[in-house]
Amino acid sequence: STLKIGMIPADGVGREVLPAAQRAIEALGSAIPKPEFIPLIAGWEEFNKNGKALPDETVRVLKEECDAAMFGSVQSPSHKVAGYSSPIVALRKHLDLYANIRPVASVPGTAGPDVNLVIVRENTECLYIKKEEIHDNADGSKTAFATRQITSKASERIGRMAFELALRRGAERAAPGAPATFWKGPPKVTIVHKSNVLSVTDGLFRETVRAVKENDGGRYDGVEMNEQLFDVAVAPNLYGDIISDGAAALVGSLGLVPSVNAGDNFFMGEPVHGSAPDIAGKGIANPIASIRSAALMLSSMGYLEAATRINAAVDAVILEGKYSTPDLGGKSTTDEVTEAILKKI
Ligand code: NAI
Ligand code: MG
Repeated sequence: STLKIGMIPADGVGREVLPAAQRAIEALGSAIPKPEFIPLIAGWEEFNKNGKALPDETVRVLKEECDAAMFGSVQSPSHKVAGYSSPIVALRKHLDLYANIRPVASVPGTAGPDVNLVIVRENTECLYIKKEEIHDNADGSKTAFATRQITSKASERIGRMAFELALRRGAERAAPGAPATFWKGPPKVTIVHKSNVLSVTDGLFRETVRAVKENDGGRYDGVEMNEQLFDVAVAPNLYGDIISDGAAALVGSLGLVPSVNAGDNFFMGEPVHGSAPDIAGKGIANPIASIRSAALMLSSMGYLEAATRINAAVDAVILEGKYSTPDLGGKSTTDEVTEAILKKI
């Protein structure tokens, strides 16, 4: 059997770091079914060429032919452009990838704060439904509104995803030979909200996620729940986006932080960072976020050993400190870091 993986580099450094992820997957050899990579098109450059940021054919191939996918990064204009909308947001919708799972962990033995957490970001609603309006006021000034949508349905499935992930992390940490992590004690889900202010929308989110634990016949008894210090943080779309970028700073660079867009049956790995126009084309983008995203895609599909092999190789290269890209203070290129990791895999 083969593993068909749709590869969507999109724009900017996505094109430089996605090949590194492909090479890491290829280096796994027989640890996974033989991978077959299907190049697919999307992005801002594609929009400027052919008028569509996400071609129908890309969606069709992903849905009908692929077992999983990897996405690079899209460059989105910060002003409104007629006819353009972000292909990554559209892809999450088309493939029903309702969660964006973003682990942030520092490598034991390296300098900096001890971090080991995962942010489970709701991927389909909140302010990102993009219902925006602008009104002219009588005095010539303007008022803009954005509608924020929170549903019990989306909150419940993201809550369940977070608790299931907490169970899995607990089991992984308890397994014999598990690598050391900074999280001690039982797994914990933290609900990120601001329901003291937004009591209706965040209130619904908070209550719904709490009910997942309370109504589940004891399945999640071993998982603690609180609303602060976190192991697994479950958050609405906007807060999840913001805190994961903040958490990335704790481990030194956005170039290190992976994510996977997860539904019930399909997974799309994606580095958290964007197209990094300031360094694109120079061959110095950090490939680690992309390579770790490949591992996360594989572990989400159940290929735990293969994922561990990639992650251990990445950690070893970080710990040795011989090869690192400029975002981490090093002088290595994307290719040099990738080669060092491939050798360890
Ligand atoms: P960014 O993530 O592209 O860059 C932020 C900073 O991190 C820059 O200094 C960049 O050089 C650095 N950086 C990012 N990835 C890196 C890597 N692999 N190695 C080394 N350094 C790295 O975010 P920014 O500048 O806010 O946005 C740039 C473009 O990316 C915009 O068009 C934005 O819309 C898009 N974007 C796309 C995302 C996606 O595809 N999911 C997510 C975030 C932004
Ligand atoms: Mg972001």
